[in-house]
Amino acid sequence: MVTIQELREKIEVLRDPSSGKTFKETGGIRHLGIDTENNRVVLILALENKDAPEVKQFKVHLTKLIKIDLKFSGLKLELEDLTPKEKGTVLDKEKKIRYIGIASGKGGVGKSTVTANLAVTLAKLGVKVGLIDADIYGPSIPSVMDLEIKLPKGTDDEKIIPFEKWGVQVISTAFFIENNRPLMWRGPMLHKMLQHFFYDVKWDDDIEYILIDLPPGTGDVALDIQSIIPQCEMIIVTIPHPTASQIAVKAGFGAKQLNHKILGVVENMSFFRTPETSAEVYLFGQGGGEEVAKQLGVPLLGKLELAQPRNGHHSIYGLDEYNGLVYLNIAKQILGK
Ligand SMILES: Nc1ncnc2c1ncn2[C@@H]1O[C@H](COP(=O)(O)OP(=O)(O)OP(=O)(O)O)[C@@H](O)[C@H]1O
Ligand SMILES: [Mg+2]
Repeated sequence: MVTIQELREKIEVLRDPSSGKTFKETGGIRHLGIDTENNRVVLILALENKDAPEVKQFKVHLTKLIKIDLKFSGLKLELEDLTPKEKGTVLDKEKKIRYIGIASGKGGVGKSTVTANLAVTLAKLGVKVGLIDADIYGPSIPSVMDLEIKLPKGTDDEKIIPFEKWGVQVISTAFFIENNRPLMWRGPMLHKMLQHFFYDVKWDDDIEYILIDLPPGTGDVALDIQSIIPQCEMIIVTIPHPTASQIAVKAGFGAKQLNHKILGVVENMSFFRTPETSAEVYLFGQGGGEEVAKQLGVPLLGKLELAQPRNGHHSIYGLDEYNGLVYLNIAKQILGK
């Protein structure tokens, strides 16, 4: 038996054929019910333009979903148009923002470090950036970005005000848990938390990019991201080691399956330079980044050396060091320059 919640989730991610936006974005699901007596779905949908030529095909698709995939006996469907006001306000702001998730498959490969450095570098290039630390199991962005863990303030209309550091606006699950205990939330709670981060944060009005530090693996968070921001692009981080890179490929394919565009691969901890001779030592093997990029059919955006930042900070590199320049190059590729 499909529950009403599951049914709603299936329909929310469908796109209004006349606008290309999901019903989640447009709020176009006016009514959704299950007529259990007749095993029938009753649905009222508001579209940008219910008379658009694509709507016919959409109805066929929807009927197939309800009757064949979800095994209901019938669908009673009514269509109407969104109000002019709704059409105007449909996440207009959201549309301009480019979301980029940083994923890795395996933990500990430097995902949070890469996310934070990319955000800071983009900010240095004059881009307005936000950073969501969505790693609910081990949020580390506050530590990487040197931010004190405290509860963010709210606005009068109950939006969360992000903290700001080095020109980056930051929000993290860590700000909402006591004593930095890992979160053991699952399912709906988790989904709610992420939804808050996407809908209820008071980012600066002119924010252009939001980077998301995703938890390792390809679990439920990936699915949540897909349903909340289907347009989210991805960057895959790996280390050169073959085992780690195989898991990175898996994460990449997972993201591809969810229709996310993969921008490219970042190889971290590629080599270590000996202090004496500066010779490159390949501590974790070689070729992982190239391999992941090849298998996913995307570019290798850059290779970072194993090195502590020289400027005294424990995670953020300056533009006067090797890794800082690699990050600059990756940031430019992201911007399409
Ligand atoms: N290029 C590098 N050179 C030296 N140390 C690095 C480098 N990249 C990351 N580190 C260090 O490695 C550790 C793990 O990095 P980080 O926390 O960014 O990984 P992660 O993939 O986000 O891990 P987790 O799975 O725990 O979220 C940190 O201590 C970080 O400072
Ligand atoms: Mg991390």
